[in-house]
Amino acid sequence: MLPFSRLFSLTLLALTVNAATVGLIPPTQRGKPDSFDNTLNLTGTETDSQSIASLVHVVEQKAGATDDSPPNQPVSDTLVTALDGEIVNNTETTVSALAKTTALRTLPKRSNDKRYLAGYQQVFAGTGTGLSARDGSIEATAYLTYTVVSNATYDVDACLSFCNRVDGCVFANLYYEYNNYLLDFVFGEKSNLKCAVYGDIHFAAEKTNTGGQQSEEPPAGLTYIQNSSGWAAKTLVDPEVPEGYEVVFGPTDGANNAPGYMGFAFIDKYDVNACAALCSTRGADGNGGACQFFNIWRALVKGVPTTYTCSFYYVVADESTAVNYGQGDLKVTYSRGYRRKSLVIDGGFEGYTCSDFCYAGKYANWIGTSPAGGYLDASIFHYAPYARSGKSVALLGSASGVDALPGTLAPASPLKTVAGKKYTITFFHASVYAGQVAEKDAFVDVLWNGVTVASIKPGYQPWTYYEYEVTAKGNDLLAFHGGKAPAWSFIDDVNVFEL
Ligand SMILES: *[C@@H]1O[C@H](CO)[C@@H](O)[C@H](O)[C@H]1NC(C)=O
Ligand SMILES: *[C@@H]1O[C@H](CO)[C@@H](O)[C@H](O)[C@H]1NC(C)=O
Ligand SMILES: *[C@@H]1O[C@H](CO)[C@@H](O)[C@H](O)[C@H]1NC(C)=O
Ligand SMILES: *[C@@H]1O[C@H](CO)[C@@H](O)[C@H](O)[C@H]1NC(C)=O
Repeated sequence: MLPFSRLFSLTLLALTVNAATVGLIPPTQRGKPDSFDNTLNLTGTETDSQSIASLVHVVEQKAGATDDSPPNQPVSDTLVTALDGEIVNNTETTVSALAKTTALRTLPKRSNDKRYLAGYQQVFAGTGTGLSARDGSIEATAYLTYTVVSNATYDVDACLSFCNRVDGCVFANLYYEYNNYLLDFVFGEKSNLKCAVYGDIHFAAEKTNTGGQQSEEPPAGLTYIQNSSGWAAKTLVDPEVPEGYEVVFGPTDGANNAPGYMGFAFIDKYDVNACAALCSTRGADGNGGACQFFNIWRALVKGVPTTYTCSFYYVVADESTAVNYGQGDLKVTYSRGYRRKSLVIDGGFEGYTCSDFCYAGKYANWIGTSPAGGYLDASIFHYAPYARSGKSVALLGSASGVDALPGTLAPASPLKTVAGKKYTITFFHASVYAGQVAEKDAFVDVLWNGVTVASIKPGYQPWTYYEYEVTAKGNDLLAFHGGKAPAWSFIDDVNVFEL
């Protein structure tokens, strides 16, 4: 072990050799960065509610039990009907197909919330079955599937029991369909009493299918509908919180107008898990990074459910910006906000704070360590000009420029991960402080349980987003290793999200 005085003079010497020779003021002395481009900039990133509103008036997602489809089909996967300002006409564009192209993710199954028959009320009655009585069946959003029930009686209970068995069902439309060849002669039930179920509540104004198909050979007449009644669940259960997310607010009648907006999708039912899958698998924004928040809401146009919007954000919003209640004949309903849970505590280092400028080798949430002979090779700074967002940031490489050794920065405690699950490590990196020449050797290794999952050697680089997929074994250890002063690397906004 070297005597203290000797160590001290070595340190001084190192200072002269490293930072001083390139004429740089190190971060501990509050040097001025060469530049810090691409810091988080929320100017002009508010929600594009105009483009959402105009597409709400164009999108067409009404459906019902067609005259030629067989009963008891499984509910189709949630469909994307518009994406980032474009109507999607392709019925193959399901949320799971979209999510699969960007990451391997299986959609969690929606829970089967049991309701009781007593939990329904009649929304509208039908026309009866008189000779001249004619009615219409519902054509509307969030159509799920249909069944036929015995027409020995007008069996409302059988229909509502069916609704109870279908995930997400909150509304049933029960009606007779006459002159339908398949119902009369082909399907096993031999009944013309159809029970069509929906994931949203509908109204008599939506009885737009009045038949009119030549299904049986003439002289049989065209198909027609009688006694079409509607039944809705009295209470709507809160949707299950998607895995990897937590509820921020809702339900309210205001959509988010927040900044950090990344785009939107329309989906064909109110499916929170579908929005979550689209957020988790959405490509990152170059300035803002990964999707961290989504807002789901239902659009009513003239009181009629028209579509279900998911809008996506790279900053976490809350109810204070959920103030877009609609415009003209468009009304926002059932608006809910969900944030993506990060396993990293204080990934923005904002828990380290002081009045203006300070630095430390560690604090409650993060710990920097230096190799033998190194000094402050991984540190945390509170100083807004160095941060990508907020006021604090982490630094790799001797903060005082006294050595060229890499440091290691790690969360103070292991991550509360679940063994076997896949996660994505996301963060921003910048290595511009010392200028083009001095930063050429900048490097950072991303470690997961001590194993290097990625090595970045970016040279001189403004704030840049990185993400890496890892598999957890439980209580995983994340660390960043790097810096070779004066080739300093700054790290900010670290997150670990479940995939
Ligand atoms: C932030 O973005 C806006 C709009 O793109 C731009 O005009 C402004 O100069 C940017 N501000 C900074 C500090 O980069
Ligand atoms: C989808 O259909 C709408 C309305 O029919 C049409 O305006 C739009 O151009 C179509 N989009 C594509 C991508 O085909
Ligand atoms: C018509 O529907 C009502 C419920 O709205 C029901 O009570 C009635 O029995 C039905 N009539 C026939 C003839 O099926
Ligand atoms: C019951 O359904 C069968 C098969 O569709 C049909 O032939 C019969 O006329 C229906 N009965 C009534 C009362 O509508």
